[in-house]
Amino acid sequence: MNWLAKVGGPTGSQPPDFGPGQTASGPVLRAVVAADEAALGRFFARLSLQSRYERFFSGIITVPDETLRAFARADQVDHVALVALEGGQIVADGRLVHDGTGEAEIAVVVSDAFQGRGIGRRMVGALIEQARARGWTHIRADFLSENRRMIGLLRDAGFAISRDAHSAVFGHGALSLAGAGEPTVPPPARNPVTMEFAQAPSALTKEESA
Ligand SMILES: CC(C)(COP(=O)(O)OP(=O)(O)OC[C@H]1O[C@@H](n2cnc3c(N)ncnc32)[C@H](O)[C@@H]1OP(=O)(O)O)[C@@H](O)C(=O)NCCC(=O)NCCS
Repeated sequence: MNWLAKVGGPTGSQPPDFGPGQTASGPVLRAVVAADEAALGRFFARLSLQSRYERFFSGIITVPDETLRAFARADQVDHVALVALEGGQIVADGRLVHDGTGEAEIAVVVSDAFQGRGIGRRMVGALIEQARARGWTHIRADFLSENRRMIGLLRDAGFAISRDAHSAVFGHGALSLAGAGEPTVPPPARNPVTMEFAQAPSALTKEESA
């Protein structure tokens, strides 16, 4: 649940590849690298208070430097971190943190101006693929119980949605990847992985619905 406290990992060293994000083909997803730290700071600082609250479950104004450092240094092995880029700017951040038992926690946030364009859906799909590729068996999601967009998105992705047994504030999502089989990639993605959105960019250019 305490996402801020759970992150960590060795330093990524490769420079960010902003190239595809600057093309006319629309946002791309790629792995976070250490050099993204400042850009991640700007991304989180631009979020509305509401989005930050929905992401971190607190009214933090500034994401602490220590957290940004840890976010940028995701090892891409047990801490998978992806960003979506539009025009060279980070417009979404998505993460999976593996607990060592086959279960990973997922968290996603999209820039307010880019919400409702399908980026969150694609980010969740890409993270599920990353979990499968690692042979992980379960993904867990924690969210505020009134977060209808996240609930809809997770449900569509196959998550079972439940209320928190002890608090009306939180809800949970659980996705079983059992039967996923052997990992399809070796300890993956220490190198940046660039994954172009498979869908046509039209879904990414429609009017903002948020
Ligand atoms: C939740 C969040 C990640 C979704 O990303 P997004 O890019 O806005 O979502 P998408 O455009 O991919 O929409 C995904 C689905 O959400 C649902 N959805 C979209 N807008 C909705 C709305 N206003 N109300 C309810 N459901 C909605 C739909 O099922 C939609 O599918 P569709 O494309 O068929 O319409 C994004 O809104 C966000 O960053 N919110 C703040 C942070 C947060 O809540 N993170 C989750 C906790 S970790």
